[in-house]
Amino acid sequence: MDRLLTGLQPSGSLTIGNYSGGIRQVIDYQKTYETFLFVPDMHATTVPQDPEALHKNIKNAVGLYIACGVDVNLDNMHLYIQSENLYHANLSWILECMTPFGELTRMHQFKEKSKNKEGFSSGLVTYPVLMASDILLYDAKYVPTGIDQKQHVELARNLAERFNERYKGDFFQIPEPVIPKIGAKIRDLKDPSKKMSKSAENTKGTIFLLDCEKDIRKKIMGATTDSDGIIKFDEENKPGLSNLLTIYSVFSGMSVEEIVEKFQGGGYGDLKKALADLLCEKIAVIQDNYQKIMASGVIDDALDRGREYTNAIAKEKYELIRKTVGYGRI
Ligand code: TYM
Repeated sequence: MDRLLTGLQPSGSLTIGNYSGGIRQVIDYQKTYETFLFVPDMHATTVPQDPEALHKNIKNAVGLYIACGVDVNLDNMHLYIQSENLYHANLSWILECMTPFGELTRMHQFKEKSKNKEGFSSGLVTYPVLMASDILLYDAKYVPTGIDQKQHVELARNLAERFNERYKGDFFQIPEPVIPKIGAKIRDLKDPSKKMSKSAENTKGTIFLLDCEKDIRKKIMGATTDSDGIIKFDEENKPGLSNLLTIYSVFSGMSVEEIVEKFQGGGYGDLKKALADLLCEKIAVIQDNYQKIMASGVIDDALDRGREYTNAIAKEKYELIRKTVGYGRI
């Protein structure tokens, strides 16, 4: 079985954007590939985190993965926490030493996250290399993510190729990003020029998977659209409306064309109301599962199994790489 790997930062509560670009793809592929799904808690500390909140967010994130449909009973599903495996950071150091600094400071996400910020951490610059290590340690072939992480997966590809070439061998599998055709960038409901983000200052544009029904309805009904009143998918000229059609498609499984057809001739209000109903219905099921999962021992059992399995794989790979670069004794 080929390997698929992805992670979602526990830097806040997960959003429908994270569902669309990350979790949904894992659920679609979990029976086809050996799946490595982890919580990148070390990534979260590129910006300061409250320790108590971070512990909570880690567990909540795993609870949500399972509540959304990640099947921990599959033998080929491995759920784990990044910081419970020391090899991620160790491999990252080796790869950092092979990455020109300029390659990291030119990355889109770094530029965006460091804009107008003084004193950002070095981790914010080097974090894509840690992400490359997350991927390369396990020889993952497929890495499902939203469009915002594509450049980081490309860095992982480049680093794998660079290492294989320099040390003359097939040390690392070359990973491929897997970006969904629809829903790769769910936009902020208030400012559709931006992606929906769990760390947005204004939460009116973000729907969290743990939002209550009242908030979900309010946020959808208050979403920014345009004034021409025509239901049409046009991301450039109608980003707000196209975003609503995209979210509808992600949560209904219908194609955008079918949705445009369904709401043709109606007003934006009809589409918004139907989308709010749909989201409330789907998210209520997730929240119901979530309550049950959080009250059970499922999460710790899965994480213990995942830690054991993935540490063994990572150790073997790291030992090979460590020796290859010349560390330690012969
Ligand atoms: P993170 O935590 O920002 O996002 C988790 C996943 O959600 C996707 N995503 C979105 N997709 C569509 N629309 C949006 N508005 C949206 N917002 C987020 C992201 O693309 C991602 O798939 N660096 C990663 C975490 C990570 C990782 C990895 C991922 C660490 N190591 C190794 C894959 C492989 C991150 O910060 O994602």
